[in-house]
Amino acid sequence: MQDVRLDNHHSGFGLGSPTPRVSWKISEAPSDWRQSGYELAIADLDDGQDIAEVRVHGDEQVLVPWPVDPLTSRARRSVRVRVVGSGTHGESLSDWSEPALVEAGLLTDGDWRATWIESAHDDGLADGPALMFRRVFAVREGMVRARLYLTARGVYEAEINGQVVGDEVLAPGWTSYNARLRYQAHDVTALLAEGMNAIGVTVADGWYRGHLGYRGGRRNVYGDYGSLLAQLEVVYLDGSMETLASDETWTTSTGAVRSSGLYAGETCDGRKAQPDWSRASFREAGWTAAVSSTALGPPLVAAEHPPVRRTQELTPVGVKEVAPGVWLVDVGQNIAGRIRLRTAGPPGTVVRLQHAEVLQDGRLYRRPLRFADATDEWILAGTAEAETFEPRFTYHGFRYAEISGLARPLGAGDVVAVVVGTDLVRTGTFESSHPLLDAFHRNVVWSMRGNFVDIPTDCPQRDERLGWLGDNAFFAPAATYLFDVNTTMASWLADVAIEHRTLGIVPAYVPWLGLEDPPLAPIAGFGDGAVLIPWTMYERFGDIEALERQYSSMCAWVDQVADIAGATHLWDRGFQLGDWLDPLAPPEDPSRGTTDPALIATAFHYRTTLTVAMAAEALGRSDDAMRYASRAEAIRTAFLRRFISGGRLTPETQTGYSLAIVFGLLQSPADLREAGDALVSLVRARRHRIGTGFIGTPLVADALTIVGAHEDAYRLVLQTASPSWLYAVTMGATTVWERWDSLRPDGSVNPGQMTSFNHYSLGSVADWLHRVMLGIAPAAPGYRRVTIEPRVGPGIADVQGSLDSPYGPIAVAWHVLEGRFDVTVDLPIGIEGTLRLPQGGGEMTIGPGRHSATCPVEVGAATEATA
Ligand code: BGC
Repeated sequence: MQDVRLDNHHSGFGLGSPTPRVSWKISEAPSDWRQSGYELAIADLDDGQDIAEVRVHGDEQVLVPWPVDPLTSRARRSVRVRVVGSGTHGESLSDWSEPALVEAGLLTDGDWRATWIESAHDDGLADGPALMFRRVFAVREGMVRARLYLTARGVYEAEINGQVVGDEVLAPGWTSYNARLRYQAHDVTALLAEGMNAIGVTVADGWYRGHLGYRGGRRNVYGDYGSLLAQLEVVYLDGSMETLASDETWTTSTGAVRSSGLYAGETCDGRKAQPDWSRASFREAGWTAAVSSTALGPPLVAAEHPPVRRTQELTPVGVKEVAPGVWLVDVGQNIAGRIRLRTAGPPGTVVRLQHAEVLQDGRLYRRPLRFADATDEWILAGTAEAETFEPRFTYHGFRYAEISGLARPLGAGDVVAVVVGTDLVRTGTFESSHPLLDAFHRNVVWSMRGNFVDIPTDCPQRDERLGWLGDNAFFAPAATYLFDVNTTMASWLADVAIEHRTLGIVPAYVPWLGLEDPPLAPIAGFGDGAVLIPWTMYERFGDIEALERQYSSMCAWVDQVADIAGATHLWDRGFQLGDWLDPLAPPEDPSRGTTDPALIATAFHYRTTLTVAMAAEALGRSDDAMRYASRAEAIRTAFLRRFISGGRLTPETQTGYSLAIVFGLLQSPADLREAGDALVSLVRARRHRIGTGFIGTPLVADALTIVGAHEDAYRLVLQTASPSWLYAVTMGATTVWERWDSLRPDGSVNPGQMTSFNHYSLGSVADWLHRVMLGIAPAAPGYRRVTIEPRVGPGIADVQGSLDSPYGPIAVAWHVLEGRFDVTVDLPIGIEGTLRLPQGGGEMTIGPGRHSATCPVEVGAATEATA
């Protein structure tokens, strides 16, 4: 038994739910063993007393209900699990698991004694100095534990007695702040000591009031003043609790951080630092009393998904002086993060760090950043032999940095690149015999790291970094094969539903900023994310409660589109983004793709309506299920009448056929065959170069697979000429680009406005790599059942990979040699599977344990793979 988890919470500490569900994985049992029941032992961590041992009959092991009374705020419990089951060796009872420790956060508004405080040093404008708040307090003898609950309107970092609290970055993260704001809970026992102590919290602009959005964007989106809410609770041996809550007895000032913007970068003046300001011994000069905020605090929610952290450090692969006093640093990898720099110099030395994803003529090329300055400025205090600087309230999307203004040459070891992002647990791997394909897969993983910075974003470098629903809807299936995104997505989807309710329609990105372009209008493929993403999450993680929470938003979305479509069932009016970034669209207008926007929109309308019918079915709402299924059928009929004739589309595009085939719009075998032939001809006519934008890219390899054109799917995926997935790899990409040709074959950067080098969207084909090429496909929610069905094709002789599913690791390894296909599959306890061999080689039911199978296959010549 391993990995007992509570409600998918990343740590179990500071839970926001009074009835957390419990999940476990069973690591050791004979392969014919099946769980028939489980016992949960819950104990009170405070008095060590057992609360209950509950026995339940059943084979569930994922998200089972909390078995005892709901938790109250601050309640601390240990949860142990043991399972009973049987196999050929008879019935057996496992040992108890290691205890999972649970501690509830502050579950009700009444738990908060803290008040929101602001600073007189704040002029109410963005881009000013970060605010510092501090308070000295006494801790008596006999402290048992201490907890700090806090959040900010801005982004914050807390310190106690000179030490940073926790390891989170950019807390509290970004939610739709008007509707809900996360607070964080920390165990700070080890930071406190008997006697006088001090707490200090720095609050910078962040998403709350900093610059957000393109074409100048907006500032002060959520409010004018930065503010802090903090509550420190100290529990003593005698059971008493003392609370230190933010109020007007705290004092405020400003220090080294003179300004910090997510896009702009950070300016730090070491001469203005106030050393030791979070220690009790610090002598305040010029500090003023904090003032209670008049702005109403938004509802608070516990932070449950993994926080943003410094997840890795990279040593640069190159550091050289490219002009007198200008040092170019090559991190070797395009990342979201920042540079940590060590240097020394006289007081007032101004060091500048500029960032970019690419070089042109050996120097930074920063036009694609648009209005994001991505420049950190560091003014040395000049007091120490060596000073270290890393900005704390910003991040950049970059591979290269230019550092200037140094008083001494940059030495090896002076620069480290710090990767910043949501600290997601990696769950899936993929490796093949094709080095370029593996490099592409690594790039997809890096683009995911760079674009999960609390919320899932489009890109990490320019004046954008927004939660575009389209990008996410297209990439979400791939994301679920790479990292455990369940709670991260659940948090963001909560905001999708909230914004939907508040604005009346699903906006193109969430949190919504109200920028002019695109308009607040239903957009196919984007608004549809409100339906498709929750369904993907349900399919991959099996959390029915998460689906339930999105359900009313899902229904409202398809109903709204149905109103637009009216009696024709065709969604053929209103603003659309089309097959965004279709390689045949003009560079200056990515929405002018070759596929009819009405075809795209109506296809999505069908797919989302059908998905809502499936969700209704899963949730036991059979009336809804029938109603949506019959509406879906009417949309399908309308689609066929308007867009298809004898299985053919006009105009014919890869995206159009992919939509029709993958979304299930073509149900007559004759139409499917005709459309399949047409798609294959189109793909061959382009000599296996891709012809799809954001809409068609996640679908085209699947469409070819569905119509049995495995060879063409392989040739398309392994293509290296532009445009193709692997083209970027041959051009030295270390992340997935926004455009097929962000860097053009002649080495110049695409002149279009949309030229990011770190967008996960076109990496969506990674879903196909895992699900079809490797062959691990969910057959029941959360992989309770799995279909293992690898498809072979020219150019690839070996594939291996795994997925740590909610039940445990599923692994597949296959290879093709001299006309034989061999596969080995491992399934964990709790999963039943079907193994289907390629080319009609046989099918078998498999259970937990290891299985091997073989069959003859024929694949096209490998050398032609990229022709
Ligand atoms: C984003 C895209 C997004 C698009 C839609 C862009 O600025 O970067 O990824 O899908 O806008 O308009």
